Amino acid sequence: MQPARLPSIVILISGRGSNMEAIVRACAAEQWPARVAAVISNRPDAPGLRFAQQQGIATAVVDHRLATSREAFEAELAACIDAFEPSAVALAGFMRVLTPGFVRHYAGRLINIHPSLLPAFPGLGTHRRALDSGVKWHGATVHLVTPDVDHGPIVAQAPVPVHDDDTEAMLTARVLEEEHRIYPAAVRALVERRLQVQGLRVRVLAASPVQAGEVVR
Ligand code: GRF
Repeated sequence: MQPARLPSIVILISGRGSNMEAIVRACAAEQWPARVAAVISNRPDAPGLRFAQQQGIATAVVDHRLATSREAFEAELAACIDAFEPSAVALAGFMRVLTPGFVRHYAGRLINIHPSLLPAFPGLGTHRRALDSGVKWHGATVHLVTPDVDHGPIVAQAPVPVHDDDTEAMLTARVLEEEHRIYPAAVRALVERRLQVQGLRVRVLAASPVQAGEVVR
C-alpha cells in the first residue's frame, strides 16, 4: 500500500522570501502533518527561490511580465499551483494584486501576511505611514485572503511598539521578527484545519498533539 501523502502547502513569493523561509523551517522543525510542496515566484530573480531549492522544494517561476494579460498570468499561476493540490496557499511577500476570480478559486485556503495592524495601513509603505501618522503601536497581521485587498478575516496579529527614535529600517526589522513568529503558526493552523471562520471573525482552535507522520484530513 502506498503511504498517504501529507497535505501540501504552496508558497508564493516575489523577493527575499524570509517569511517563506520561516514557514519552511517551522514545518520541518515542528514536524507539521503537512509539507511545503512548492515555492512559486512571479520574478525569476527572487532571492528566496535559491533557499527553497537548497531545501529540495520544487520551485517554479510564472513571470507576470511575459503574460499577455492579468487573466493569462493568473490562469498560468493557478495551473502551476493546482498541480500540487494544495490545502493551503500562502502569500509571502507576493507583490501582485489578485483578481476576485483567482481569490475565489482558493477560498478558505489562501492566506497572507501584511506588515501592519489591519485595518490600519492597508496597501504599501506601511512602516513609513505608521511613523508619519505618529501611532505608538504598529505590527503585523495574518489574514485569509478575500477579493477585498488587505481586508480578509484576521487569523493572527502581533503588535510592535513604535519607539521615539525609530527609523523606518528599525521599525521594519522589529515587525519582520514578529511576522516570522505569527505567520508559520497561522499557516499551520490553516493546514491543520483549526480555523473556524464566521464572517470576519476567526477562532483559532488549539493544536491537538498530532503524532509525527499522522495525516490530518
Ligand atoms: C513582508 O514584510 C511581508 O509582510 C510583506 O512583504 C514583506 C516580504 O518579506 N507583504 P519577505 O519576502 O517574506 O522577506
